[in-house]
Amino acid sequence: MNGIKVALFGIGNCASALIQGVEYYKNTRAGDESIGLSHPDFAGYHVEDIEFVAAFDVVEGKVGVDLSEAIFADPNNVMRFAKIEKMGVKVSKGPVKDGIDEKLQILTNISKASDDDVVKILKDSGAEIGVCLLPGSAEEATKFYAQACLDAGVAFINGVPIRIASDPEWAKKFEEKGIPLVGDDIQDQLGSTVLHRNILQLLVARGVKVDKSYQLDVGGGAESLDSHYRGRMRKRGVKSGAISQDLPYDAPLVAGSSDFVPFMDNSRDSYFYIHGRQFGGAPIKIDIRMEVTDGPNAGPILMDAIRGTKLALKRGLSGALESISAYGFKMPPSPTTMYRAERWVEEFLLGKRKL
Ligand SMILES: NC(=O)c1ccc[n+]([C@@H]2O[C@H](COP(=O)([O-])OP(=O)(O)OC[C@H]3O[C@@H](n4cnc5c(N)ncnc54)[C@H](O)[C@@H]3O)[C@@H](O)[C@H]2O)c1
Repeated sequence: MNGIKVALFGIGNCASALIQGVEYYKNTRAGDESIGLSHPDFAGYHVEDIEFVAAFDVVEGKVGVDLSEAIFADPNNVMRFAKIEKMGVKVSKGPVKDGIDEKLQILTNISKASDDDVVKILKDSGAEIGVCLLPGSAEEATKFYAQACLDAGVAFINGVPIRIASDPEWAKKFEEKGIPLVGDDIQDQLGSTVLHRNILQLLVARGVKVDKSYQLDVGGGAESLDSHYRGRMRKRGVKSGAISQDLPYDAPLVAGSSDFVPFMDNSRDSYFYIHGRQFGGAPIKIDIRMEVTDGPNAGPILMDAIRGTKLALKRGLSGALESISAYGFKMPPSPTTMYRAERWVEEFLLGKRKL
């Protein structure tokens, strides 16, 4: 009765980790020791309340098969951490648009099935929230699914680094339709952006002047290939923009993805370099390497965003949700520091903040 009906656009590594996570944590209750999950309950909903009712992709091996199989089909290479029984949801074929270009076809083939009617499937499935997890450069395709959600009366969560929630025109369309909108570009549980932002905030709080910093990623998932060939400068803009929110002055900051290494599978190495000056102008240098697995890293924030959006639906809210977006996404409509975003979310959950 408490179910949250979710449609997924793009059944890649993040979608796989999200579905596996719902299974993995379904019996976890608040107060239990739950490795990796900070909120068994969020916005009045449990992880177990998340239900997948529709799914869309475009590649062979995913289209036309049960969602439980599609999440492990090539080129997905995320770790398996849950056994998923048949889900009874067949993956439908959406329009390819700019979702897969010729470079991504090194890893996969486009399905020959004809396109399904996305709006009709959304309506028939009873989906309340559509979660967009397309490749990071799929601008046209992301906009297509945002419009399909508008047409079907379904809330939209944009995990992709394309401006939808942070574009006032799209936000207005969702507001006029009476539907919530959240995004853009998921923030990881502990990704390079979050770690970089925290280190910079710590240095600022301790009076260290940050002179320059870079942060570069290398990974082996399909998304790393996409960001290497197509989305490099876009990704760099988003990540550099996110970290610049934490320095109260201008300094040269570069953050982005630098390369694709196939044998790394879904893991990602992030390199951080920070140069600054402390007491008396004494130099300080920080060099760090972090290794994470990409898909699972997006899981907890996606779960919170889904449950926060369901609360907004229950409250009859519409337009861009600034608190949930600032808390869980790198490119929100109202960017702010991480700690302020967390406070906004607490206020939103308590009903003390409207959006
Ligand atoms: N931790 C993370 O992995 C993380 C963090 C931040 C942002 N993101 C963003 O999340 C998104 C998903 O990442 P991922 O690693 O799961 O990517 P992925 O490449 O593994 O998955 C993308 C999926 O979209 C499908 N697709 C392509 N075009 C389509 C279309 N037109 N219609 C339907 N499906 C289509 C692909 O076949 C693939 O299954 C990316 O935009 C990424 O930038 C991920």
